[in-house]
Amino acid sequence: MRSHSPDPKPCAAFIEEVGGPALELGCGDGDPLLELRRRGLQVDGVDSSADMLERLRRRANEQGIAVTVFHQRMEALNLPRRYRTIFLAGPTFTLLPDDAAALAALRGIRAHLAEDGAALVPLFVPAPSEDIGRTRTATAPDGAELRLSVVHEERDEAARTQTTLLRYERRHGTDRSVAERPWTLHWYSRSGFQSLAKDADLAVTAITDAHGAPAADDATDVTFRLEPST
Ligand SMILES: C[S@@+](CC[C@H](N)C(=O)[O-])C[C@H]1O[C@@H](n2cnc3c(N)ncnc32)[C@H](O)[C@@H]1O
Repeated sequence: MRSHSPDPKPCAAFIEEVGGPALELGCGDGDPLLELRRRGLQVDGVDSSADMLERLRRRANEQGIAVTVFHQRMEALNLPRRYRTIFLAGPTFTLLPDDAAALAALRGIRAHLAEDGAALVPLFVPAPSEDIGRTRTATAPDGAELRLSVVHEERDEAARTQTTLLRYERRHGTDRSVAERPWTLHWYSRSGFQSLAKDADLAVTAITDAHGAPAADDATDVTFRLEPST
């Protein structure tokens, strides 16, 4: 049911340009971290989900790839080394619920970035969901039917947050399990994000679009490149 798999190419190009070691924040179960490691790049990972890191370690083991990953939240980073490149492979930063958490994450990035390093933070402004009331289905390897429904959504333009209530269902024979989870996204104006970065002693040195070109002023899906300012 996963909607998107990050492309390893831009991350590999960034690490090759700026240098390693590299750190992926929100590495999940290993895309693109495992592919980058397979290409011989030195990349560590951080994720707040023990389950996702367990899956990553299992996949790494099956593929014979050595990995170093840390179970931490990106807004409370405390790692034993610094990195020349720090990146997120998708807009996971928008999962931080407010500006205070974003500032803490940016300060953590700054503290773990080498003086000649750079970080990439992709961001987007979500559109209101068009899927309210809709259900997507898939079949699990054990034959269970998986259903994902968008139940409800609330958007607060002043707080720049959108919370979507998702319902996950699993049906297998007579077994049925259901869980509802809120999914909150928090977004930024360009100047707002720039000012948070400045407060974390990071300078915005580029804002690019999905093709790596300078982003148009009205683009809502952009990547900020950050470098130490002091
Ligand atoms: C959209 S997934 C992307 C994962 C990975 N790049 C992939 O495609 O497999 C976002 C990941 O960020 C993690 N995450 C969410 N909030 C986080 C936080 N505050 N600190 C660290 N990781 C976080 C989630 O556990 C999840 O694994």
